[in-house]
Amino acid sequence: MLWPRLDIATPVVRWQVQHGRQSLPWQQTRDPYRVWLSEIMLQQTQVVTVLDYYGRFLARFPDVAALAAAPQDEVLALWSGLGYYSRARNLHRCAQQVLAQYGGVFPATAAQLAELPGIGRSTAGAIAAFCFSERVPILDANVRRVLTRVLGFDADLAQARNERQLWEQAQALLPTDDVAQAMPRYTQGLMDLGAMVCLPRQPHCNACPLQAQCAALRAGTPERFPVRTRRLQRRAQSWWLLLARNAEGEFWLQRRPSTGIWASLYCPPVFEDEADMAPWVDARAQHLPAFVHVLTHRDLHLHPVLVAGIQPPGEGRWCSAAQWAALGLPAPVRKLLDAWN
Ligand code: ADE
Repeated sequence: MLWPRLDIATPVVRWQVQHGRQSLPWQQTRDPYRVWLSEIMLQQTQVVTVLDYYGRFLARFPDVAALAAAPQDEVLALWSGLGYYSRARNLHRCAQQVLAQYGGVFPATAAQLAELPGIGRSTAGAIAAFCFSERVPILDANVRRVLTRVLGFDADLAQARNERQLWEQAQALLPTDDVAQAMPRYTQGLMDLGAMVCLPRQPHCNACPLQAQCAALRAGTPERFPVRTRRLQRRAQSWWLLLARNAEGEFWLQRRPSTGIWASLYCPPVFEDEADMAPWVDARAQHLPAFVHVLTHRDLHLHPVLVAGIQPPGEGRWCSAAQWAALGLPAPVRKLLDAWN
C-alpha cells in the first residue's frame, strides 16, 4: 500500500516551539549521558515521577564514569520504586561498556548507540536526534500513535514487516530543512503531541497542528489507531512473603536471583506455595492483608506473613531500617517494611 507523502515536519517543529514542553531538565543539555539517562527513565515511567529520580541520580552519578564505577546495589537502590529493574541493570552495564569500549564518551550515531545494553532503536534515535541532530526517526508508543493516525496506517503492527514499513515511513517524514535545529525540536514535538494531544482515547484533535492532514481524523476514527492484533497475556501468580523480624526490629532480607522477577533486589524470603512456608510460621504469626502488585506480564498477588523469634531460611541478613533504606528493594516490599517497622 502507498501512504500519502505529507509534510508534517514544519508544523510539528512550529507547534513544539509554541506549545511543546521546553523546560524539562533533560532538554537543557545536549550531553548524551544526561539525555540517555532521561530516555531510559522515561521508557516506562511518567515525566512527573522521573523528575525526582533524575535529579537524585545525577547528584550521585554526575557522569558516566561515576555510574560505571558504582556497585550495582547502589544503582538499584537509587532506582528503587521506578520499577522495571532490568532498565537499571542495563543502565549500569551500558555505562561500563561506554567506559570500556569508548573511553567514557558516548558514540555519536544512532547505529552505534543501539548496540549498547538497554538502548533500543527508538531510544538510540532519540539520543542521536537530541544530542547530535542526526536525521533518524523514533517510534515509541506515543509517536507510533501519532504517525499511524496521521498516515492512516492501518496495517497490523504485530507483523514485523508492517512495523518495518512504519519505520520507513517515519524516516521519510523527517525534516529536510535546517536539520541541525529541526531534528531535536521535531523529535520532542512528536513526543509532546503523543503525550499531550494525540491521546489514546479522546484525542484533542482541535488542538493538533496535523489535523488538516490526519487521515484517521478524516475517517472519523482516530481511536482505531494504531492497529495491533496481539494482546499482552497477563498471568496471575501468588507469592507468600515471610517477614521475619527479630528483637531489634530488624528484618531478614535476601538478595533475589539475578534473573526473573525483582532480579538482584533485596527481599524477604519468597514462597510460591504457602505450604512451603509452614516450618517458619507458628500460631503467633500475623497474616497481613494480601494485595496485588502489577508487573508487565503478571499480576503478582502478595501475601505477607509477619513472624518473630525464628531463624529464617536460606542465606540472608538482618537489616535495620537505616540499612534497608540504602538497599534496592521492590517498591511494595519497601512499603511493607516501612509500615511494620
Ligand atoms: N518520553 C520519552 N522521552 C521524552 C522526552 N525527551 N521528554 C518527555 N517525555 C519523554
